[in-house]
Amino acid sequence: MRPVSVLLLVSLSAAFILISTDIVPPNKECPQNMTYTCGTMCPEICNEPKPTVCNKMCRMDCFCIENYVFVNKNLKNCVLPQDCPPK
Ligand SMILES: *[C@@H]1O[C@H](CO)[C@@H](O)[C@H](O)[C@H]1NC(C)=O
Repeated sequence: MRPVSVLLLVSLSAAFILISTDIVPPNKECPQNMTYTCGTMCPEICNEPKPTVCNKMCRMDCFCIENYVFVNKNLKNCVLPQDCPPK
């Protein structure tokens, strides 16, 4: 291979790596019953009154999937409301 084509190949693959890391959406592994999404700062928690005043600004993090609520303020576990631990 001539030096020019090697250079072309190298720059092409470098460009590809840059592009591919760019288009991959920010992703994060989330625990069971959770998904990486843009959620509010005041999610529903078991045995806690539903927040009324809430900062609507969203934040990318692991949040409960639909119909699930956080077990406690640690915001690490999500269960269905009927699976909330008794108070
Ligand atoms: C996921 O949700 C189910 C249903 O509420 C619950 O039984 C299970 O413990 C949850 N898993 C985790 C890791 O919290």
